[in-house]
Amino acid sequence: MADDSKATENHSITSDNNLSLESGNEVSIDSLARQVQESLSLAKKHKFWETQPVGQFKDLGDTSLAEGPIEPPTPLSEVKQEPYNLPSPYEWTTCDLDSEDMCNEVYVLLTNNYVEDDENMFRFNYSKEFLRWALHPPGYYKSWHIGVRVKTSKKLVAFITGVPAKIRARDTVVVMAEINFLCVHKKLRSKRLAPVMIKEVTRRVHLENIWQAAYTAGVVLPTPISTCQYWHRSLNPKKLIDVGFSRLGPRMTMSRTIKLYKLPDQTVTPGFRKMEPHDVPAVTRLLRNYLKQFAVAPDFDENDVEHWLLPKEDVVDSYLVESPETHEITDFCSFYTLPSSILGNQNYSTLKAAYSYYNVSTKTPWIQLMNDALIVAKQKDFDVFNALDVMHNETFLKELKFGPGDGKLHYYLYNYRLKHVLRSSELGLVLL
Ligand SMILES: CC(C)(COP(=O)(O)OP(=O)(O)OC[C@H]1O[C@@H](n2cnc3c(N)ncnc32)[C@H](O)[C@@H]1OP(=O)(O)O)[C@@H](O)C(=O)NCCC(=O)NCCS
Repeated sequence: MADDSKATENHSITSDNNLSLESGNEVSIDSLARQVQESLSLAKKHKFWETQPVGQFKDLGDTSLAEGPIEPPTPLSEVKQEPYNLPSPYEWTTCDLDSEDMCNEVYVLLTNNYVEDDENMFRFNYSKEFLRWALHPPGYYKSWHIGVRVKTSKKLVAFITGVPAKIRARDTVVVMAEINFLCVHKKLRSKRLAPVMIKEVTRRVHLENIWQAAYTAGVVLPTPISTCQYWHRSLNPKKLIDVGFSRLGPRMTMSRTIKLYKLPDQTVTPGFRKMEPHDVPAVTRLLRNYLKQFAVAPDFDENDVEHWLLPKEDVVDSYLVESPETHEITDFCSFYTLPSSILGNQNYSTLKAAYSYYNVSTKTPWIQLMNDALIVAKQKDFDVFNALDVMHNETFLKELKFGPGDGKLHYYLYNYRLKHVLRSSELGLVLL
């Protein structure tokens, strides 16, 4: 596969990136030098994160520091019992996503104010069903779904969430909070509300005797445990080009591009089928065995697999290969549904994107397995299939005509140090 990954150039939506390379271009020494300089000056600029138990830039490369918690837990009686103070016009609220009204308020806040790409052409549009799924895993705490309202109008203007997860770092399984959906209304930006929200969710996590967290961001903060890149596989190239998500590659016509990305109508792997409830034990075994090899990965039990991987319409799709002879479950693939609003386009309002989630190949070659995933995504009318270069994804991205995006995604741990920065292929964790 010569140069197909450059047939189109793609946008990634991972919020504003401090370290981003133009997709498809060689990196010049100058731009590298500038990026290194920017990241060095960034190291002095984190008034909030410098006060937190996270890996600091000055400690990068200091292998004398042990792996594990940066600070020990404090006695629960010493955890602050009252919420942090907000600026006086605002008040805390706990968001009950089971309430249709509350879920709608959160949905509207995020739909209008959550993550955009660098050029403000697209904004994530998580559905209400997706938010309920993402925030109600086994053992979730309602108190970790935190909103901020304007006292007078009661309007919801900010949001942050945590959900509990068992995450293994090397040989140690740690109960952590996965922090997500940090959002401050556009009109209230740069007022240092985000640090108060992060401290408040941290306090509520501590009250449950949990002391570590995992999170991702498009921005560089102290300090990433790993940095990944998004890759994009066009399923509906004409629409992607029309809305400015992709650009027609040099020496490419629209009709050649459509032909390049055409997929078979039907999957090819014998025994490839949708996951069903009775598959939970077999998928759990398959996935646990697969995830062992990565430096950081979730420690999923059957309840987790049932929640996170059983298909849920318009939220998560999972397929597996059941051997027609032995009926053994040998391979697995999954993706979640995360549309983006297309901002200011006459013809289209929504980009329908599938995001690669957890995949396992033991018998079906990676390329065949993931090509079948692309085929079912196309059948379901997705416009694009996105994947990070985590786990073994690099073995199929180029071959299956994914092109690199312009966005980077940085992974972080709170109050947990790793000795070395990880390659993205050493990461076994996908956050939503
Ligand atoms: C992210 C967001 C909540 C930050 O709010 P803000 O008003 O821009 O920034 P504030 O003045 O409140 O706070 C700035 C502090 O928050 C930190 N911060 C900004 N974005 C952050 C993120 N995604 N994760 C963690 N900390 C973040 C900044 O680094 C800064 O701390 P520092 O001085 O130690 O570096 C806001 O920009 C937003 O809602 N953006 C759109 C949605 C989004 O990108 N969410 C994050 C998804 S990962």
